[in-house]
Amino acid sequence: MNLPDYLSGLKAPVADETDAVDLPVTGVLPADLTGRYFRNGPNPLPGRDPGHWFGGDGMLHGVRLRDGRAEWYRNRWVRTRKLEGARFVGPEGVDLTATPANTSVIRHAGRIMALVEVGLPYEMTPELDTVGPCDFGGRLTTAMTAHPKEDPVTGELHFFGYGFAPPYLTYHRLSATGELVESRGVDVPGPTMIHDFAVTERHVLWLDLPVVFDLELLGSGMPYRWDEAYGARLGVMPRGGGATRWYDIDPCYVFHVGNAYEDARGRIVLDAVRYARGGFAALWSGSGGSPDPAASAAASGGAYLHRWTLDPATGALNEEPLDDRNVEFPTFDETRLGRSSRFLYTVTDAAVVKYDARTGTSRVRDVGGVPGEAVYVPAPDASAEDDGRLLSIVTDRSGDGSELLVLDAADLEFVASVRLPRRVPMGFHGRWIED
Ligand SMILES: [Fe+2]
Repeated sequence: MNLPDYLSGLKAPVADETDAVDLPVTGVLPADLTGRYFRNGPNPLPGRDPGHWFGGDGMLHGVRLRDGRAEWYRNRWVRTRKLEGARFVGPEGVDLTATPANTSVIRHAGRIMALVEVGLPYEMTPELDTVGPCDFGGRLTTAMTAHPKEDPVTGELHFFGYGFAPPYLTYHRLSATGELVESRGVDVPGPTMIHDFAVTERHVLWLDLPVVFDLELLGSGMPYRWDEAYGARLGVMPRGGGATRWYDIDPCYVFHVGNAYEDARGRIVLDAVRYARGGFAALWSGSGGSPDPAASAAASGGAYLHRWTLDPATGALNEEPLDDRNVEFPTFDETRLGRSSRFLYTVTDAAVVKYDARTGTSRVRDVGGVPGEAVYVPAPDASAEDDGRLLSIVTDRSGDGSELLVLDAADLEFVASVRLPRRVPMGFHGRWIED
């Protein structure tokens, strides 16, 4: 039997949950790196085929670091209603708890949550046990993106939910103490797949792009397909209230944004990893997405770092590619989220790449395997924007095992690695949750 790409090779799910203690460390783990590294990703139960890579049951892999030691590793499925067999769409309508919680993990106001963009967050304990779905006291009635943005100054968590029934897009805001204090509909022409967004000091930026819901595909994995006719636009919404202003852009898809900010002239700058139609088709068909024959025929290329600059004073828009390397998972120092920042990190299928926006240069470190997202963790009392470490789960190309790699963010030099007791399947987003 030929397994689909998303159930085989480095994406093949693991069959069970395990625990290990006192993990072998190479190099020296910084004692101040005390906390937990969690990584989320799809890991369908044995025998299940979700029809799309993005539909697999969420599994968290956790590594506990303390005082220079790697105390434990464990992996746990998120105990969602979907895992128990509940259906997302049934006679009663959509069940936002029957979703895989497989994309990211965050902590806000002391609550650890596993997220997927089609459903409610699932609260988890620091030991990776599932508490249950969270709707913020009944106030959240839409799904929640897996890419919320915490304002480093106010501590508020900005996020959104999208769906295939109106309202297609809703903006939400949690207070620093975790109460849902605002929900606001955003007018968009149709139901599109919106994986990420951006927040600056004064604005929320929307990406309304031509990957559109198709009712005929419901039940086939991910019911979205490229629709060139939909067009593509960026929206600029004042945080304090007011209409969203839209800027037409060249059609593309963006899964992940880097940072965004207002510059000294009031222009809005957004960096993100951009897929042209061919690059999106290549990714989508390899993930189990419904084939778009025209696009699949043109499947080529990957995803490239790109910058859009919008000028609200003149309405002008400029966009430019920043690099020709095929990359994903942009990360940066999130204490600078929404403010001008200098450094951005991405990964290729073999390396970590660091971009310096001030000098226009980049640096590459081959990691000897396949890296996952490189999460930036500032050093205590960091003296510079890159005074910190990058954490990435690197999997042997043979598929035999994985390690948690720690690099110095300043020069990408090796700091330490923790050998994990098993292979961690390719997945999505990690998060450092310090003590
Ligand atoms: Fe993502």
